[in-house]
Amino acid sequence: MPELTVVDHPLVQHKLTLMRRQETSTTEFRQLVREVALLLGYEITRNLPLQTSRIHTPLEEMDASVLAGKKLCIISILRAGNGLLDGMLDLMPSARVGHIGLYRDPKTLTPVEYYYKVPGDIGERPVLVVDPMLATANSAVAAVTRIKENRPTDIKFACLLAAPEGVRTFHAAHPDVPVFTAAVDRELNDHGYILPGLGDAGDRIYGTR
Ligand code: PRP
Ligand code: URA
Repeated sequence: MPELTVVDHPLVQHKLTLMRRQETSTTEFRQLVREVALLLGYEITRNLPLQTSRIHTPLEEMDASVLAGKKLCIISILRAGNGLLDGMLDLMPSARVGHIGLYRDPKTLTPVEYYYKVPGDIGERPVLVVDPMLATANSAVAAVTRIKENRPTDIKFACLLAAPEGVRTFHAAHPDVPVFTAAVDRELNDHGYILPGLGDAGDRIYGTR
């Protein structure tokens, strides 16, 4: 069964509401995306494997827990994905990073790829794909299809907001990829925007319009 996790932690929900408000400034919005990304990242990484390492505390030796295996690779869907990437890197400073440049054609709502750069050894790493908005899901589906060509060990997808239509489309295309989000909103409008939503995530993070 495809997995959908809505991270309903009170801090995430409060910050998401602040982001939705139209009067929230670019500075505040960017900071909030970063903070929520860190909190989402905390939930998403809950099951990372551990191993023990022999260490010396100031008092004695012990077998202490450390992360096992190759470091995670975070792949940001440009450009709004970079807002989430910053918060994820606050949490996991040594994660590897890839970028996929996609924009939605405003008429057809289909994604157009303009950039792709990921670590060469991505086939040996778990991957977390980040993009604030899962609207039609065309961008996320295309990004994950492209990333699967590199055969990572497992893939997860994280966003701030999803539309029910987008979740269905994404799960149909990639039933093996769990989705994490802070909320699933009501619907898409005729222009493919999430309602009630938070507007254009890229514009709100970077102050463009
Ligand atoms: C936004 C968003 C997603 C996409 C979601 O990006 O960041 O990538 O739309 O829509 P979809 O699920 O219908 O594909 P946009 O194309 O506006 O580009 P930007 O990140 O450069 O602003
Ligand atoms: N992209 C956004 O930035 N916002 C939406 O609501 C839909 C797609």
